[in-house]
Amino acid sequence: MKLAIIGTGYVGLVSGACFAEVGHTVICVDNDPAKVKVLTDGGIPIYEPGLEEMVKANVAAGRLRFTTSTEEGVQGSDVIFIAVPTPPLPDGSVDLSYIEKVAREIASAMTSYKIVVDKSTVPVKTGDKVSETIKRYCKAKVEFDVVSNPEFLREGFAVDDLMHPDRVVIGTKSLRPVNAMKQIYLPFNAPIVVTDINSAELIKHASNSFLALKISYINAISVICEATGANVQEVANGMGMDERIGRRFLDASLGFGGSCFPKDLSAFIKISEQVGYDFGLLKEVQKINTFQMDRFVKKISETLWVLKDKTIGVLGLAFKQNTDDVRMSPAIDLCLRLQKEGAILRVYDPKAMDKAKGVLKDVTFVEDMDSVPEGCDALVVATEWEQFKKLDLERCRGAMTHPIMFDGRNMFDPAEMEQLGFIYKSIGR
Ligand code: UDX
Repeated sequence: MKLAIIGTGYVGLVSGACFAEVGHTVICVDNDPAKVKVLTDGGIPIYEPGLEEMVKANVAAGRLRFTTSTEEGVQGSDVIFIAVPTPPLPDGSVDLSYIEKVAREIASAMTSYKIVVDKSTVPVKTGDKVSETIKRYCKAKVEFDVVSNPEFLREGFAVDDLMHPDRVVIGTKSLRPVNAMKQIYLPFNAPIVVTDINSAELIKHASNSFLALKISYINAISVICEATGANVQEVANGMGMDERIGRRFLDASLGFGGSCFPKDLSAFIKISEQVGYDFGLLKEVQKINTFQMDRFVKKISETLWVLKDKTIGVLGLAFKQNTDDVRMSPAIDLCLRLQKEGAILRVYDPKAMDKAKGVLKDVTFVEDMDSVPEGCDALVVATEWEQFKKLDLERCRGAMTHPIMFDGRNMFDPAEMEQLGFIYKSIGR
């Protein structure tokens, strides 16, 4: 099928590449000419495993191209996906101005029947607004359908998530676009949920909030574990074996971050408020998340007593492994808090150093993981990169002024760390 994707962020670019990979012809539209040039020249503006190869192969095969022209995308395609940002406003609600602008642009470019699909995460009832807007601004007065098709990919695993989705959600008012949507997703062999637009939009916010809730739940359990000598990983393993619960998203940490969970939680709380419901449960999820970071910082300051002029090594800056994204990263938040107390920071991340340089000032960016511990009073693990498990711990202990480690991701074994002579503090163990 001929598809246009408007917006080449994580969702747009990965969707475009994967749709092309399974044989569709895809035009990706972005209003940033510099980004379009990078992509056209074979570059990738984000780090995402497997994406660069996939984009290059599909550009070479003539199934994927990039343009700054919405008109070109719309007129050359049967189905137009909207994948533009929906950032938070200061009051927690969602800024829908990019969606509205794209809806107007699509409307004025349409000269024949189109299916307009919203892939961005939006508040329930946005589909109605998109529909109204297209009707109002469509010069040619042609027919169209609006579909909600939320995306569930995780950064760092985006290509794999998109190629092997747990389910595909298609929200629509009429039956007309259903066959085309099914045809687009047929090669992915995933269960397809066809529902109304409002339910489809809600599925996304309800799912992300539930996953954030799962993390806050285990983080709350980690508090009880620390107070009682239990081990949160053992508890999570035992809980996770119950198929009704499942083990995934039960890893206690210094808190969740990223461009989705914090934003989607605030948005869902706001949406609920607007329909007259105080979603106190989700407010508690946010509170536990903040408390988890506070507890971690307190652990560090109680152990080191005074942070001023202490040298602290920080492993990990991205909001999680396998990504170079530092937006709402707990690791960055932690660095800023330690810095505020006067700590001197030596930081490292396998992929996120460049992006972190934009937000962290007056820290030493260390080029390799093994040099981070040199002269440190303590070492902190802030992101769960697999490679951190390969840290040469003997060498690390020797290089540090004091062998103290704060592990915000439970990457190491407490007994082993103690045996190696470390003062080792992790989460819920
Ligand atoms: C999330 C959703 O998972 C995805 O379905 C949606 O499309 C976008 O939002 P993403 O933000 O890319 O994806 O990352 P995710 O893997 O969900 O992790 C979010 C945060 O939670 C990270 O900071 C991560 O480190 C943290 N996390 C995750 C935990 O602290 N514990 C866990 O068990 C899982």
